Amino acid sequence: MECCIIAKLKTQPLWFSLLFALGFLSFLKLSLSFLKWVYANFLRAPKNLKQYGSWALVTGPTDGIGKGFAFELARKGLNLVLVGRNPEKLRDVSDEIVAKFGKTQIKNVVVDFSGDLSEGMERIREAIEGLEVGVLINNVGISYPYARFFHEVDEELLGDLIKVNVEGTSRVTKMVLPGMIGRKKGAIVNIGSGAAIVIPSDPLYAVYAASKAYIDQFSRCLYVEYKKSGIDVQCQVPLYVATKMASIKRSSLFVPSNEGYAKAGVRWIGYEPRCTPYWVHSIIWALAHSLPESLVDCWRLGFCLGIRKRGQLKDSRKKD
Ligand SMILES: NC(=O)c1ccc[n+]([C@@H]2O[C@H](COP(=O)([O-])OP(=O)(O)OC[C@H]3O[C@@H](n4cnc5c(N)ncnc54)[C@H](OP(=O)(O)O)[C@@H]3O)[C@@H](O)[C@H]2O)c1
Repeated sequence: MECCIIAKLKTQPLWFSLLFALGFLSFLKLSLSFLKWVYANFLRAPKNLKQYGSWALVTGPTDGIGKGFAFELARKGLNLVLVGRNPEKLRDVSDEIVAKFGKTQIKNVVVDFSGDLSEGMERIREAIEGLEVGVLINNVGISYPYARFFHEVDEELLGDLIKVNVEGTSRVTKMVLPGMIGRKKGAIVNIGSGAAIVIPSDPLYAVYAASKAYIDQFSRCLYVEYKKSGIDVQCQVPLYVATKMASIKRSSLFVPSNEGYAKAGVRWIGYEPRCTPYWVHSIIWALAHSLPESLVDCWRLGFCLGIRKRGQLKDSRKKD
């Protein structure tokens, strides 16, 4: 068969053979990417997270994706340091985890990431002293209540967004890293967002998207800085997940539940420095990147203007 193709090619003009070779190489590249995608999403064994250390620290574990991660990590046999702002919700989540997994040890640390961060960091430092924190999930994050133009973002929201999404993640990482460096092992997962990476712009969510672009670059730099110290730093890039932040109650094929996302998220810990663990999200990512950026910009602007309109309507109803 191959001989036949080669014999036929020999009879063709040079330009045809070159085009054929180019087409064949593109096909080969595409096939290899597809096989790699299938392997990473469905066949590759997850890392044994206990090898990084027996404790994991999760920020924002009382709801959404963070709560999903807390349960998944407990399922993998890790003990947990849960860092959240609401002591009752922290207690409820810990009780649920202990009821489900029995032997998980849990330490709750109350930190409001939009409050006094120095005090919060001191509390985390005290809580992790002497613990082998091998996995860090920097999940805490806030967004706008609904889409708005940049000039409509009030000072308080602007400050909180940067404090929680940027400063909080950076300072928790700084607190946990020295222990990992000392033990020469660790995994850090920073939760980014498709808003900064998958789509070329996220109009009407500018500060949120920019804060997630920080997370993306921060993660990549740390990945390179600490790879030789045995620390795997990764930015996970979710698209929509059914949580209170996304204001989506029901999950679907395109929008996983928090548990569904976390299950996929845990499987990817310790691998590529940037990934979107939920397989349908990765297909959307590839499709979005194949479209002209201006087209995606236009679609996103229209979509976010719709969210803004509905949000304003809700606000005005509340005032009446
Ligand atoms: N959901 C999505 O579609 C989506 C998409 C891309 C990226 N992400 C990212 O995923 C991460 C988690 O989002 P999510 O959708 O799970 O959000 P979520 O459901 O709103 O949960 C956020 C968690 O963070 C906590 N939190 C919020 N503000 C805090 C503060 N000031 N201090 C301490 N804790 C605070 C919340 O605590 P309470 O329980 O007390 O409220 C909750 O535990 C975020 O970084 C977000 O940017 C989400």
